[in-house]
Amino acid sequence: MIELRELSKSYGDTTAVDRLSLTVERGELVFLVGGSGSGKTTTLKMVNRLIEPSGGRVLIDGEDLHDGPAWAIRRRMGYVFQGIGLFPHLRVGENIAVTPTLLGWPPARIAARVDELLELVELDPGVYRDRRPDELSGGQRQRVGLARALAAEPELMLLDEPFGALDPATRDRLQRSFQEIRERLGLTGLFVTHDMSEALLLADRIAVLDGGRLIQVGSAAELLAAPAGAPVAALLEAPRRQARILARASAAGEPS
Ligand SMILES: Nc1ncnc2c1ncn2[C@@H]1O[C@H](COP(=O)(O)OP(=O)(O)O)[C@@H](O)[C@H]1O
Ligand SMILES: [Mg+2]
Repeated sequence: MIELRELSKSYGDTTAVDRLSLTVERGELVFLVGGSGSGKTTTLKMVNRLIEPSGGRVLIDGEDLHDGPAWAIRRRMGYVFQGIGLFPHLRVGENIAVTPTLLGWPPARIAARVDELLELVELDPGVYRDRRPDELSGGQRQRVGLARALAAEPELMLLDEPFGALDPATRDRLQRSFQEIRERLGLTGLFVTHDMSEALLLADRIAVLDGGRLIQVGSAAELLAAPAGAPVAALLEAPRRQARILARASAAGEPS
């Protein structure tokens, strides 16, 4: 269980995250949704201790994140970084193997796990295992990032726009396989996206950030039924419009 209590981060006059309180229950995937600069990445990095909060606390299963060493908590968490997060000098397979190697898994188990994960994210192990990150497309790098985060079967997952650079068809396929992985593993964690459609599709609950502040938390149905204010309504507008266009187009296509 992840509990954020009045978590804040300021950079000089900029308040990136403003007294954010939020609880993620075990087995729950909560989506942080908001426009660019709303504080999503900063929040996620504070949960992994990559950024020190200016105020507030993070509790993991009731224990303060800062009571133990940072490495101990990082090993329990899988993290998919926004943008380029692979080690450029390591091959794809070595990138995926980083955490299992740190944890001292036997080499045969690591090798089997690497191939299993490459299959899972739809990259042929024989083709991609020994490539370097700069020999991959942006979308392929993101898939390796997801595989790496899942590698050591983490209890907690932090995902920062993991499908951001994918073309729509690939994104759709990966979202569906992600949903399967999630149900199978019962993932607990935080998933960051600026894409409300993605959140409506995949989230247990959605937490909407605006200017570093949490302005609404609820299920997709709750947000759609009663958006708390203009910023939430604005984020819901694109998926609503798409749904309307699709409904109209399919009605027009029906024989009269
Ligand atoms: N290292 C930093 N120094 C100064 N300002 C920062 C730093 N990192 C983030 N910010 C600011 O904090 C705000 C939130 O950033 P971020 O968490 O990256 O947003 P998001 O991930 O939602 O796009 C933005 O206004 C950003 O400019
Ligand atoms: Mg970000």
